[in-house]
Amino acid sequence: MDECQELQTPVILGVSQNGAKYMGGYYVVTQLIKAYIIKNNITIPVAIHLDHAATFETCKEAIDEGFTSVMIDASKMPLEENIATTKKVVDYAHSRGISVESELGRIGGKEDLVVAESCYAVKEECLQMVKETNIDCLAPALGSQHGIYKGKPKLGFKQMEEIHNLVGIPLVLHGGSGIPDDQIRRAISLGTAKINVNTDCLCAWVKILHEEIKNNPNEIDPRKLIGPGKQGIKDVIKNRCEVFGSIGKAN
Ligand code: 13P
Repeated sequence: MDECQELQTPVILGVSQNGAKYMGGYYVVTQLIKAYIIKNNITIPVAIHLDHAATFETCKEAIDEGFTSVMIDASKMPLEENIATTKKVVDYAHSRGISVESELGRIGGKEDLVVAESCYAVKEECLQMVKETNIDCLAPALGSQHGIYKGKPKLGFKQMEEIHNLVGIPLVLHGGSGIPDDQIRRAISLGTAKINVNTDCLCAWVKILHEEIKNNPNEIDPRKLIGPGKQGIKDVIKNRCEVFGSIGKAN
């Protein structure tokens, strides 16, 4: 948030189910963020988004505890069940002013608790999902992967364009770390408006952490070892926002 404030870019803070649990639960997460916003003069738009929730109950709990956006990922279910679950989440969320993202196909790789083999979204199913549920944005799996890519990522741009033309709502790109800038820009030009970046931030942070531990073997204050890694995250955020074109768009 500090870096985004400096850059005057809006930001979506994505939290995984396990990430929230690690931090003490959804309520702790939302109160921490909301208090930080007030006490540190954060004026940019900030969304608090639950990433990859597998059930209606999980989404409900996060919404009840202050999340402003949720992703229902029922993509492991058969289509009809995925749509029914998503619709239930949308009905609950929209009546409270909360936005909803859903997924079709399978995003490959590993993200916290989510592990899957890649499988492309089908455009007819995307249209059905959007028409029947009224979701706010759609994450169609089109070759991107969570975590570190083995080889160069190859996104399905033709399908991305077709799906966006069909559904007419913003698309979401998961597995945003490690995708070359030209592919990111192309995805944006074809309707992608939310890009998830986690692994790049983690790698930058942990690289500095390793250096700090190596250079200060006698340090016992964890803040002094962990703290410098923040700069690594800030650098990634700045670099990504430059490519995403979100700098200066806070208003
Ligand atoms: P990366 O960790 O590959 O950046 O993916 C993040 C993501 O898509 C979270 O859902």
